[in-house]
Amino acid sequence: GAPVIADISALDVGQRLIFEWRGQPIWIVRRSPEVLKALPTLDNQLRDPKSENPEQQPEYAANAGRSLKPEISVLVGLCTHLGCSPEMKAEIRPEPFDSNWKGGYFCPCHKSKFDMAGRVYEGVPAPTNLVVPPHHYENDNTIVIG
Ligand code: FES
Repeated sequence: GAPVIADISALDVGQRLIFEWRGQPIWIVRRSPEVLKALPTLDNQLRDPKSENPEQQPEYAANAGRSLKPEISVLVGLCTHLGCSPEMKAEIRPEPFDSNWKGGYFCPCHKSKFDMAGRVYEGVPAPTNLVVPPHHYENDNTIVIG
């Protein structure tokens, strides 16, 4: 399929834009400094905190934020269990999940949880982190997906 050009000039902190690439939803989220600060504190609760499974992201996204730029997250918005669409629960708050909830994605189908880098928690049905699609920046406000 053709690459998708994503204009992120209107993307505010904490917000998400959704594009479609090869029939899949692509989420682009601008993460807050608080969210970025929380990511490393979650490592010991996650199945693949260092993004060591090469199937789940390009090499350039195998870093702490799973992203080219720390604040901008680009993910395929499909649960890696059976492909449901996880809900974004970006706020850092204790309820309704657990006291360690630092924001992330919650899959309503079988309760898989992912953090704001799309990293899967231990003890949930989803086996792997959410997929980071191949992408690059054409300029600060333009991401090419695919
Ligand atoms: Fe998401 Fe099963 S499809 S937990």
